[in-house]
Amino acid sequence: MIKSIILAAGKGTRMKSETPKVLHTIFDKTLVGYVIDAVNNTGLADENFIIVGHQAERVEEYIRKTYSNAKCVLQSPQLGTGHAVSMVLPHLDSFVGEVIILCGDTPLITESTLKDFIETHRSKGSDLTVMSAIFENPTNYGRIIRNSDGSLNSIVEEKDANSEQKAVKEVNAGVYVLNWDKIKPAFSQLSSNNAQGEYYLTDIIKWANSQSFKVDAYILKNNEEIFGINSKTHLAEATKIMNKRTIQKHLDNGVTIIDPETTWISPETEIEADTVIYPSCYITGKNKIGKSCKIGPFAHLRGDVTLEDNVKIGNFVEVKKSVIKANTNACHLSYIGDSEIGSEVNIGAGTITANYNPLTKVKSKTLIGNKVKIGSNSVLVAPVEIAEGANIAALSVITKNISAWSLALTRAPLKVLENWVKNK
Ligand code: UD1
Ligand code: CA
Repeated sequence: MIKSIILAAGKGTRMKSETPKVLHTIFDKTLVGYVIDAVNNTGLADENFIIVGHQAERVEEYIRKTYSNAKCVLQSPQLGTGHAVSMVLPHLDSFVGEVIILCGDTPLITESTLKDFIETHRSKGSDLTVMSAIFENPTNYGRIIRNSDGSLNSIVEEKDANSEQKAVKEVNAGVYVLNWDKIKPAFSQLSSNNAQGEYYLTDIIKWANSQSFKVDAYILKNNEEIFGINSKTHLAEATKIMNKRTIQKHLDNGVTIIDPETTWISPETEIEADTVIYPSCYITGKNKIGKSCKIGPFAHLRGDVTLEDNVKIGNFVEVKKSVIKANTNACHLSYIGDSEIGSEVNIGAGTITANYNPLTKVKSKTLIGNKVKIGSNSVLVAPVEIAEGANIAALSVITKNISAWSLALTRAPLKVLENWVKNK
């Protein structure tokens, strides 16, 4: 199994945020989380080293809570990308095998590209492969310098490049795979004798050539994949790109999406064919939506939502952490959280599951059996269970369990004062 090293020590000044750059999120998953998941999903790696520096404690806490196969390694001070990788040397002292190096701020990298990249490295018998990309405007990237026979010579950073080198459109994408035991010595031999006074990771290309190791570049097919996030504008752009990809996948699978421009669907949402997503929905986190459901317009699924077949979630309905069984409707103005709802249930307009007690800060569950009908504007105060077939009259506040096939109501009696208006 291979190891990954993910560079995430940089400051991210241009995000103008108190949150460290790699902890910014797209559809509620962090930037570095996307990179780790892409690596893990290749099935080829068993351990990830995250290089942390700026706000290291916060990144470390997140990684510890979220990934059992990722370890943070502190780089302080941050003396460049080559210096960053060298922080892992003590951890991989006796490791023999391949190491893949990536950046923590490129959430659009895909598992299929990483797989192909690693497989190409293996099939060519290379010792070091760098991912490259062709950019019409290569500004700011390191340029890939090739020899006259096309073989890889070196990478030259923009700030160190002469005008001829600056004209090169093939750039360093910042992803590398290398045979660790062979290339490892390079990291203790890097110098900072360059325009930025940094230890450049890119200098390992020249070093590997000097040792007559086999060095190659793998040209990326879709440049979007190495889009790095440096600002909130980039974050918005990457979110859009990710959304576009996801929507295209669902359209190809037979989901109807009326307006892709105003529909937001996280990459971890599964949707079966013949479901219709109406305009202006926001679907984030991990969700499973069955077939022939109708979602929206203006619906909000907040994650950990499972909808069985033929469920309707209508306008201004918010659902989180809930399972809703087949043929159930919640068509208007509701909040459904921490709930398990049976099949053929009707959730009337304005129904709220009051799942949170602000005094105890405890969240509780609402259980609703099959064929239950909840009247409009009811509040179900969790923990509570409405058993099969029960009816809740409109405007009721339900604070205890309701037995099967009962009618429950807490409504104040209707008073009619005849001719009151006339007499006034
Ligand atoms: C780097 C490459 C460049 C490539 C570009 C692709 C070098 C010298 N240059 O340039 O050839 O085209 O990426 O995006 O590698 N980091 C650390 N510790 C450090 C410095 C950086 O962890 O001491 C991290 C940053 O947080 C970031 C990544 O490494 O995630 C890249 O660093 P950055 O400064 O953005 O490198 P570039 O100058 O863009
Ligand atoms: Ca950069």
